[in-house]
Amino acid sequence: MTTIVHRIAECHNIAARLPREAVIGLVPTMGALHRGHGALFEEARRRCSVVVASIFVNPIQFDQNSDYDFYPRVLKDDIAFCTAHGIDNYIFAPQENEMYPGPQQVFVEVGEVSEHLCGRTRQGHFRGVATVVLKLFQIVQPHLAFFGEKDYQQLAIVHRLVRDLNIPLKVVGVPTVRESDGLALSSRNRRLSPRQRVFASCLYEALLAARQAIACGERSPAAVKARVAEILSSVPDITLEYFDLVDPDTIQPVDVVNGPVRAALAVWIGETRLIDNVLCEPAGLPIEYRKNHSELRHGPTKLVDHVSFGM
Ligand code: PAJ
Repeated sequence: MTTIVHRIAECHNIAARLPREAVIGLVPTMGALHRGHGALFEEARRRCSVVVASIFVNPIQFDQNSDYDFYPRVLKDDIAFCTAHGIDNYIFAPQENEMYPGPQQVFVEVGEVSEHLCGRTRQGHFRGVATVVLKLFQIVQPHLAFFGEKDYQQLAIVHRLVRDLNIPLKVVGVPTVRESDGLALSSRNRRLSPRQRVFASCLYEALLAARQAIACGERSPAAVKARVAEILSSVPDITLEYFDLVDPDTIQPVDVVNGPVRAALAVWIGETRLIDNVLCEPAGLPIEYRKNHSELRHGPTKLVDHVSFGM
């Protein structure tokens, strides 16, 4: 049975009433749930005895009012989705004035890890994400928290948040769930016209070309960028916002590819902004490199990372 909780005080009560040995997992979301979120729920259910899914469209992480206003809010469907995916514990779905009863005056400031990729163009976005994520950690008090590699910079920032502010929980990264043509699932995909949806598969195609170039010995980020730009320029309606090869932990662009890197991009298809990323590794990496990377810890990367749900 799914219990819907709207109040912060009710959440505190849940944590207080659970047996000491309960393992609480938190899956923070903004709703409009899809199979990508479903993979997080599945992983949380596998590793925790109590799962709390939060559904909250967080106003302080939106850099454009129109994006916030038009963000899909479909709580009824989301509750049905959670129930179908075995979230038989709790959904925390607060109203805006519950999370922000007055103007927020204290924020989490994020450093260099937010300087590049999405942080460069989305002013204040990661400050808003880190602040709400810290609030959710305080409210739910989970032992584990689950985030998707789809938003890789966000995942890296949450790792730093937990490390730098000594928060006693473990962050679990979950591999990206994709459509059969490689497009990463996203709440924003529903804004694409049928024609744009067909073109959108080129994001993953471009990322795979980057991965292949690096696996075949390309070490120059400029050369990889040129290849990606060439692929995307041949697709109508697509504008590249950024493509970069970054260190997987620090999210700083690399000068030369001499270890594992994340290839990450953002594109505009008409009015819709989409992001995606993949892990790229040069051939012949020593085994220590491979052991330390989350995508590898979750098993070998498949060309299309399908995740099944065992419903
Ligand atoms: P939202 O976009 O709803 O995403 C919630 C979680 O689902 C994030 O951790 C995201 O990385 C993960 N996710 C989305 N699409 C995925 C996919 N195709 N495969 C795997 N995981 C996927 O990210 C946010 O909300 C917010 O910024 C939030 C963390 C909730 C803070 O407000």
